[in-house]
Parts: sequence; structure tokens; C-alpha cells
Amino acid sequence: MARASSQPRNTRVLKVDASKIGQIVFNDPQQLFLGDWDIKLSGTSSDAANLQDAALHIRNSDIPVAFPTETVYGLGADATRSAAVKGIYSAKGRPSDNPLIVHISSLSQLRALLTPRGTPAVAPESSSDPIPQIYHPLISRFWPGPLTILLPLPTPSHLAPEVTNSLPTVAVRMPSSILALMLIHLSNVPLAAPSANASSKPSPTTAAHVLHDLSGRIDLILDGGPCNVGVESTVVDGLTKPPVILRPGGISIDMLRSCPGWEGVEVGYKDGAETGVPRAPGMKYKHYSPNARVLLFHGQMDTGSARKYIGAKRTVGVVMTKRWQEGIWQLGNSMTKKHRISILNSHASNGDEVGAVDREALNPELEIVEEAHPSLGVNIPSAQYSQLHLNEEDDQDRLDVWTIALGRDTADIARGLFSALRELDQKGVDVIFVEGIDDNEGDTAAAVMNRLRKAAEVEITL
Ligand code: TXA
Ligand code: MG
Repeated sequence: MARASSQPRNTRVLKVDASKIGQIVFNDPQQLFLGDWDIKLSGTSSDAANLQDAALHIRNSDIPVAFPTETVYGLGADATRSAAVKGIYSAKGRPSDNPLIVHISSLSQLRALLTPRGTPAVAPESSSDPIPQIYHPLISRFWPGPLTILLPLPTPSHLAPEVTNSLPTVAVRMPSSILALMLIHLSNVPLAAPSANASSKPSPTTAAHVLHDLSGRIDLILDGGPCNVGVESTVVDGLTKPPVILRPGGISIDMLRSCPGWEGVEVGYKDGAETGVPRAPGMKYKHYSPNARVLLFHGQMDTGSARKYIGAKRTVGVVMTKRWQEGIWQLGNSMTKKHRISILNSHASNGDEVGAVDREALNPELEIVEEAHPSLGVNIPSAQYSQLHLNEEDDQDRLDVWTIALGRDTADIARGLFSALRELDQKGVDVIFVEGIDDNEGDTAAAVMNRLRKAAEVEITL
């Protein structure tokens, strides 16, 4: 069995197109993934073979496998084997007191997990359903999807103790990414999986991000294209009264409040500098930090402010969201406009447009270039270079600017955020200016701002 060692590993990236794996067969067409289901693998497809390779690796190796979910890429291992779970912590450099989320592919798998080891699993209609009632409305509405729930851990448990780090609860989610679901199903074990970044770095939303952080540390990365949500799942605790949100994410507080028993759900996380004992253990660690300093702004950037905050810097990254279409670029009179924006091909395998960039929200001076992503129809705008000549007389007195326009739509902003921070870091910028959004907006805006506050050195209202 392969074990973690200090020798660099040969990290392979395997492309997998979910539409070429084979056919999914549901036992109950009403229940879909919440019921039992199976896959008829296509015998000829390399995508199916790659997915099977990854599932075998999870079963047989102690080195975790990186895989896409709809939120961010995860680093998965068999949650029932200690050696495999330890492999996650060592690959990421993650503090071992920060527990992991367990990913499941059906409710029967979850019920088995919540039943003490050595006793038969209970039927769903039994009055002693191990899934607490409070979660039933959430599960039927939001699973599979970006919602993680805390559940009571039975003793003795099937799970390796390293998953939960001796907490009485386990965090569980059923991802909606079809690749993630198929990987769990084929592995036939629950997958413990944190985000597949090196500890403290922004979560990865592409296979290239994972490779950047974990190359040489793991054997396999399944490349299913960019993640559609872009920020991690919402984590909720329904075992307390009132229930609380421990981490904001893809499912908003308003969506939760519309479910019976969740009308009074409270916010149990703090943004920014944290004090006291955090309820979600992971929230106390440094997170989402690129190497460059991040300055988070509210309000319209004008020439004076831009000059003030740029100071003596020579290379600046800018992440524009809802309003900064032009503002900062009016800094110099003779700036050369060399903006280009790449838009990945936005066709899903069924031919529907998914998450297309709102072109009207983009600077009309941008030249739009279409690039096809091989496997998924998800758009992630990339950084565009421009030079600002600050002084007409002196050609050397110039500022290099890398700009990423995420668009006005909050879902697009969430999807592109981590990727933007990582890309600007790779460009070697000294500082990243980020245009914040209103976190009271309701949907994923709170999740975006929560991550940005953890990444930013300062938050500035203009
Ligand atoms: O979208 C996601 O949730 C991604 C994908 C891969 O599924 N996963 C993810 O995992 O973000 P991770 O490990 O980066 O974050 C898990 C969060 C941490 O803040 C951790 O402290 C919290 O969930 N958590 C895990 N188990 C917990 C428990 N028993 N009680 C309280 N918080 C828990
Ligand atoms: Mg993480």
C-alpha cells in the first residue's frame, strides 16, 4: 500500500468528462441521488477508466486523490481508514485539530455511517432514523448541493478518529457534482475531503490550482474543469437551539430560513479578526491568503484614492466586481489600453448556456476572446495586462496593472474569486485591490465577503 513519504511524487492530472462516463440508473426516480443508484460504466471511454483509476486509488492507497466538486476541488480519502485520512493532513500541511467534511453519495450510505459500528443500519421509515428530523427539510431541498450539516457521531464509529478529531459530531455533505458523486459511489466508501489547497491558500477551483499547490505531494488529480460555485459549502449546526450557520457558502440564510425548524437560524461565524473559541474549528486558521497583500475596498475608486493606495508600488492587481468598471483606470492620461478578456466557452454538454459572462457589464473597450475549455462550460475571466504611464515625461515611470473583471453577477463573482487571487499572485503583483460587494445582498454575497475578509489585510471604505 502506498504511504506518504518525503520523496516527491509523480502527480498525474487525469481529465474526466462527466458526460462520457456511462449511464446513471436511479432505483427511485422520485428520490434520485437521495435514494439508491448505480452507474453503468461505458466500457470504451477513457473518462470512465480514469474515474475508476481514482476510485481504486482511494480504496488501495494512503495518498489522497484531488477531485472536483461543485464548490471547490476536494482532497479525498477513505474516511474509514486512519492511514488514508492522515495522508490528507500531511499532503495539505493542515493542522490536525481541524476536522474534515465527509462526502457521501446516497442517504443509505449516510444512515450506515450514523449507525454504531457492529449494528445493522436502520430503515429510513423507522422512528429511530439516525438522521435527526431537523435536517430532513434541508436534505430534501438542498442535497445534493453545497450544504454541510453537523450530525451526531455514534460510538463506536465507522469513521477514522482523525476525521472528526474527537468531536462528538461529524460534518457531512452530499455534493451535487456528478463527478464527485460517481467517485464516491465507485470508491464505495465515504470520502473525507477538505479543499485541495495547501493549508492557508485560497481554495482551488481548477485542477491547475491543485497542481500548483500539491504537485509532488499527491499521485492523482481528476480534472473536471472549473468549479461552478467557487466558494465552499455552507456549514450548519441543527443540533443546537436555535440552529446556527457556522460558515456562509452556496446556500444562503434566507434559503435556510424558508425551511421548517430553521426560521430562527442564527449566524454563528464572525468575519475578520476572530477572538475566543471558534465553533467551527477551521475558522480560527489563516485562510485564503495569496502572497500579495490584499486591500478590500467599498465604494467607488477614484483617481485620487487609487494613487494614494498604490503609493510607490510598481505592479498592482485589481479585482473588479459590480461597479469598478473604469474608475481606477482613469489614473493616467496616456494609459495604453491593452485590455483583453478571455471567456471560456460557455456551452454545457446539453447545449444550454451556463453561467455566461454578462458582456454588457464588462468594459466596452475590452477585446473579447473566446477560448474553449475542453471539459466543462464554466466561465472564469482571466487577468488582463495594462500599463499606466504616470508621467508623460518619463517613460519608466509606469505602473503594471493586471485586472480581472469578475462581472456584476454575484454567482459569477463567487465562481471567479479564488481563481482571481491565485492568478494575480502568479503575476507577481505587490498588492491586490479588490472591490468588495454588499454582504447583505442575501445570496452568496455573504460567503464572498467572508472569504475576502479572511484574505485581506485591511478593509477600506472609500
Ligand atoms: O465545499 C466544501 O465544503 C469543500 C468541498 C471540498 O466539499 N470542503 C471544504 O472543507 O471546504 P474544509 O475542510 O476546507 O472545511 C471544512 C469546514 C472547516 O471550517 C471545519 O472546521 C468545519 O468544516 N468542520 C468540519 N467538521 C466539523 C465539526 N464536527 N464541527 C464543526 N465544524 C466542523
Ligand atoms: Mg478549506
